[in-house]
Amino acid sequence: MFELNLDINQFLDTYWQKKPTVIKNGFIDFEDPILPDEIAGLAMEEEIESRLVYQEEDKWQAESGPFETFERLEKDGATLLIQAVDHWHEDAQQLVRPFRFLPNWRIDDLMISYSTPKGGVGPHIDNYDVFIIQGKGKRHWRVGEKKALQEFAAHGALKHCEAFAALIDVVLEPGDILYIPCGFPHEGYAVEPSMNYSVGFRAPDQNDLISSFADYCLDIDQTAQRYLDPEMIIRERPGRIEEQELNELHRLLIERSKSPVDLIPWFGRMISEAKHELDIASSDIPQTNQQILDLFEAGAQFIRLGGLRAVYFQQSPELLFINGEQFNCEGFTELGHHLCDQDEVAGEIVELLSEDENALTLFTRLVNLGYWYAA
Ligand code: SIN
Ligand code: CO
Repeated sequence: MFELNLDINQFLDTYWQKKPTVIKNGFIDFEDPILPDEIAGLAMEEEIESRLVYQEEDKWQAESGPFETFERLEKDGATLLIQAVDHWHEDAQQLVRPFRFLPNWRIDDLMISYSTPKGGVGPHIDNYDVFIIQGKGKRHWRVGEKKALQEFAAHGALKHCEAFAALIDVVLEPGDILYIPCGFPHEGYAVEPSMNYSVGFRAPDQNDLISSFADYCLDIDQTAQRYLDPEMIIRERPGRIEEQELNELHRLLIERSKSPVDLIPWFGRMISEAKHELDIASSDIPQTNQQILDLFEAGAQFIRLGGLRAVYFQQSPELLFINGEQFNCEGFTELGHHLCDQDEVAGEIVELLSEDENALTLFTRLVNLGYWYAA
């Protein structure tokens, strides 16, 4: 279990989305939950996103996995990065838990990198907030001020930014955490073979929202209102779009999302969709309600699949959104919310399940989908 050594309220007030900071000894006596060899193993898998970044004769190179061999990691100046390790590695997944003081819907994934001395991905700007935890080894990090910097492709698959002056210049040691809000340029180079764990946070921008909402509107078969102008009058200036016409177009456009609750069925699906592949092992023979109860009886704990996204809305408590799909928990909202709020199903919630057939039926369905599994 990882426990954050941090005054969370003070961190949120002073730093969250405001400025970068170093949390020295953020994890006391930190022990790496995964070995470099396991990282390499993950990088060999087809469905896992991995990248190898290094410099050759002062030119940046970036290759994407899967990889068969790792010769480049025998030399200095290389970094192997694996995306969404929380989906694939139960012990590494534990590193996300200490950050649950932030809401689940904002959490993106756990990225892990292994670098040989001098290895790094170069100066860049991310559009997400990130906590970079230092594991084994040491890495030298620089973080600059948030300002408009030139960005360019150092390689087809590697975006860099121009040089920047450092606000933070630090060598991280095991258990130290560097928090970087989105938009702050940074670069880190290993001083000695180094493991880094990045817990990233997503926040959609207007374009993400609009394009996803438009996709949703096209997908659901709801009849769409069309622009109408039965009160047409003779036009002296046929080239001009009149003010009231533009107003009507604007009304038509926002009609679809007039009130925040109109966004729920779309946003719930969108935000609960996995951005990276999940390690789903759904069984061919579905379990019955009784079998689930028997497992509980035998002392089983059910764990939410790593990286699975489950949310509900304060304004629509009877709806759950899990992995891009909507579920109903009317009549058993306590269980439904527990599934979204907690990483495991245990304790008094088990009693609730055994007493409520509908709740148990939903839970059994989620287990059969491979979303929760008995530990
Ligand atoms: C890394 O761990 O090498 C990259 C982390 C980052 O800068 O986003
Ligand atoms: Co970065």
